[in-house]
Formats: sequence, C-alpha cells, structure tokens
Amino acid sequence: MLFQPFPNAFGIDISDLSIKVVQLRGGSMFGKKKEYELVTARSMALPPGLIENGELKQPTAVLKYIRRVLDGNGSSVKPIKSPWAVASLPESQSFLKVLTIQKPADDILEDDVVFVAQKHIPFEPDTYYLDWQVLATHANAVDKTSVLVATISKTVADTYTTLLEEAGLGVVALDTETLANTRAMMLATDVTKQETIAFLDLGADRSSVTVLEKGVIRYSINLVFSGEQLTNHLMQKLKIPYEEAEREKRIVGVAYAKGEKGKEKKQKAIWSENMKAVEELAVEVERALHYYYSHFDKTSKVTRIVMSGGAAQMKGLGSVLEEQLKVPVTLGDPWTHVRKATDLECYRQGCAYFSTALGLSIRALESPL
Ligand SMILES: Nc1ncnc2c1ncn2[C@@H]1O[C@H](COP(=O)(O)OP(=O)(O)OP(=O)(O)O)[C@@H](O)[C@H]1O
Ligand SMILES: [Mg+2]
Repeated sequence: MLFQPFPNAFGIDISDLSIKVVQLRGGSMFGKKKEYELVTARSMALPPGLIENGELKQPTAVLKYIRRVLDGNGSSVKPIKSPWAVASLPESQSFLKVLTIQKPADDILEDDVVFVAQKHIPFEPDTYYLDWQVLATHANAVDKTSVLVATISKTVADTYTTLLEEAGLGVVALDTETLANTRAMMLATDVTKQETIAFLDLGADRSSVTVLEKGVIRYSINLVFSGEQLTNHLMQKLKIPYEEAEREKRIVGVAYAKGEKGKEKKQKAIWSENMKAVEELAVEVERALHYYYSHFDKTSKVTRIVMSGGAAQMKGLGSVLEEQLKVPVTLGDPWTHVRKATDLECYRQGCAYFSTALGLSIRALESPL
C-alpha cells in the first residue's frame, strides 16, 4: 500500500480473561509467499469479573489494563505509540452467518442483505450494526450469491469503542473473533482453493468451529468447550486450588504418562477429567460437521482440522480428536508468515495463543476499512 491512512495500526484482542496485542509491518512478497515482520506481540491476563461473557462489567479497571499492555507493563518492551487499532468484538455478543442473496454479486445493495438477515439472525436494524462481504457467486446460478454477514449489538460495539477511545486509541475497524482468527489461520495453513478445511479455535471462554470451502467461510458455530471451565471443573472435582488445577491441566493434558510415585493417582484423575472434556468436545465438533454436511448445498468432506487458541495446546489433544473424528487434526502455527517471531512471548505462550490478535493486526496493516 503506497499510502497508509492509519500508520502503524495494530490489532488488539480483548477477551474475558486476557488482552493481546500484535503489531506488524511489511507484508511483502517473497517469491510466492507473503511475509510480515513482527514489531511486537504482547499480552496480559485479566482477573475474572472485569469482563463477563463479553460484557464489560468494570470498564475503568479494563482501561487500566489496556494502558498497561500498550505501555509495556513496566518491562523493557517499547510502548506502542500508534493510536490506530483494529479490535475484536466478543463472539458471544455477535452473529456470523453465510446467507444466500437471490441476486448477482454486483447488484446487491445493503437493503437486500438487511432484508435477508432479518429472516435468519436475531437482528434488529435499529439496535444492531451489520457488516457484510460477498463470498462467492453460486457455481450453477449466477443470480445467487453467498454473502458473509456479521451483526453485533450497537450497545456492545459502542461500549468497546468508547473504552478504546478512552484508552487514547482510534478504532479503525472492529472484527468478530472468528473472522480475525480465520484470517490468521488461512495464512498459517496456506489453504488451497481445492480443499475443505475446518478451523477449531479453543479459547479460555469460548470455542468455535469454522468450515472453509475453496478458501471461503461457509459455516461457523460456537461450541460449549472452554479451557477455563475445564480448570474450574478440575479445581472442584479434585479439591485443589485454581493455580494447581491450571498447572496440572497443562502438564497432564490427555497424554497421560506414568508420573512420579505418589503423584500417579492424582495425575490419573486429572487425565481422566481432561479426557472426558475432550471427548465431549469431539462430539460437539462431530455434530457441527454433521450439521454442515446435512444443511448445506453440495458440501465436500472436511479433509483436515487445524486448531488455534490457547486451549488447543493441550498435550495429546490432536491425536485424541483425530482418533475420534477420523480426520487429521493439527495445531496451526499462525506465525509461519511472520519474520522474527520465534524468540518472543508469542512462542513462550505457545504458537497458537495469539492467532486472533494476529488476524486483527493483518487487517490493521492490509485493509483497515
Ligand atoms: N498447554 C496447555 N494445555 C491446556 N490448556 C492450555 C494450555 N495453554 C493454555 N491453555 C488454556 O488456554 C486458555 C486460554 O486460551 P486463549 O488465550 O486463546 O483464550 P482467550 O483468548 O483469553 O479467551 P477467549 O478467546 O475464549 O475469549 C486457558 O483456558 C488455558 O488454560
Ligand atoms: Mg481468544
């Protein structure tokens, strides 16, 4: 881009329990591969209760955390000076759906999308913002077009915008978490135009599965699985403190290996609870894929599942899901197209942890509006 209207714009991903920021530059082509350069990737945990289910409960406290992340939280990292941000909106408060409009792509007006959206999503034009983009013209019918529609309650979007403005930022654009994550994961997986692929995003509070066919989103749904819920469950079931439950969940995962004597019984119990949660997750994913196959026109089989989000890093998760779903499951690395990404916090936290923030930063750099 010759002229960048929002210099050094970055992505900020605000979740119930974390704030993550990624800033990139570049975006040059190296052979056939596009490569970005990392300026910064940083995050901070939020104490429970400040944001609940996407709702800002204590905006003043959240504001302080945002400022701390931007300023570097007292560490040696440089403060972020750019005021321009692309932010995520909580998935729990938004809807994302692929709709069919009975018109050729070039003839579609906003009113057509609003009209169809009202029939399919809980959507009131007065109280919701709507954003849409053309995905594809139907293969055998040029007068039918698939359109990806995102809606978000005006109240929710406005509270987030106000919060970010109070933090001194100008909000260039808002994205749903799924859209941002999908953008990062498409780059990470070098998705081909031929394949049908599913992205499984597993976070602290929310998870989702998104199916892409020929490089475009066709279906996306939120899942019940949550990393935080699993930690809380372990805490109650084994009567151990939160920190211990969180630590043991990560150490044991679903890849149980014989531990030290004396610890074995506890590890087995944790493994068994983790396994139950993962089996339920597999059932949820299976159900979502089944829905996709049975409710959409001319679907083709999902040939691989790529995971992202912090909870996707659970030890042994890929192989357990693979066995149950009978589809190859891998952990995506959204940093493959980003130079100098190996020695950072992003890798200490695990490569999949920043995928949504990275997707937001790509939008900030490439097509902010
Ligand atoms: N190695 C690991 N094994 C198991 N779980 C892990 C591991 N590393 C991180 N997690 C879990 O990942 C979750 C955090 O994921 P992530 O950072 O993607 O969530 P978030 O973006 O804060 O929230 P959300 O996207 O759900 O709103 C926590 O529940 C944490 O316990
Ligand atoms: Mg997240």
